[in-house]
Amino acid sequence: MTTVPAFRARKGAGPPLVVLTAYDAATTAWGEAAGVDALLVGDSLGMVVLGYASTLPVTMDEMLHHARAVGRRRKDALLVADLPWLSYHLGPRDAIVNAARFVREAGADAVKLEGGAKRLEVVRALVDAEIPVMGHLGLTPQSVLAMGGYKVQGRGGEQADALAADARALAGAGVFSLVLEGVPAGLAARITSDVPVPTIGIGAGRHCDGQVLVWHDILGFEAPGHRRPKFVRAYAELERDAATAIEQFCSDVRAGSFPSSAETYHMTDRMAEALGLYGATGVGEPELTQ
Ligand code: KIV
Repeated sequence: MTTVPAFRARKGAGPPLVVLTAYDAATTAWGEAAGVDALLVGDSLGMVVLGYASTLPVTMDEMLHHARAVGRRRKDALLVADLPWLSYHLGPRDAIVNAARFVREAGADAVKLEGGAKRLEVVRALVDAEIPVMGHLGLTPQSVLAMGGYKVQGRGGEQADALAADARALAGAGVFSLVLEGVPAGLAARITSDVPVPTIGIGAGRHCDGQVLVWHDILGFEAPGHRRPKFVRAYAELERDAATAIEQFCSDVRAGSFPSSAETYHMTDRMAEALGLYGATGVGEPELTQ
């Protein structure tokens, strides 16, 4: 079982950490079978599962519904749950109450929250309440309105310095790990060498201590019309295969070729005869009684 201290101890030791999102029992089982180090119940849930246009509408109840499913199936991987927008912005008390629900109801090992300097009080309060925190800096999707869209962050010198300062401050406040999203590789490398905790990159180049991607992205299972971001590598094309499979099912049903005899439960000839069904609509016919 991967614990928070074990995850943190991978800073500078061993192969890069692998983190994958999970939203239900099946995505959890596949991540576990592949041996990921951590499963993240991300608030990307809102976009890839619940059909929202951003992560902003996602509620604690929606997150918990999915985190509990992941918690039931999780065996070895570290389980991190994302605090959704407004579940920690109103102050430390709210943050602790909401984070504790992930621990108690879903068996989460840690929570993740977005933001730098302005979140330090909340991070310290959670850590004081014995709830491990993963930070998240750079392109933070819950700030989409303030950022004016999903834009790479930290390209200019001043912004890069501010992000590097945020990363050091979060580490000082006690985060055990830090997601860096949508920042230039050089900045991610600088932060990675600056902080004593593992950095986990997404669209942040290869110099981080680990990488995280969204399940639907690596499997090519995006919603129709979704533009695949540059930083995603799709290892399968499930969207295409799923569409072909469902079209084939529709045409087989409409053509009467599904279900076949082999896909059908049959009664014995004697039973069919006793019920007066022998020969009716094909029931009990020799071909169908195997
Ligand atoms: O919500 C999410 O899935 C995330 C990861 C992509 C880092 O925050």
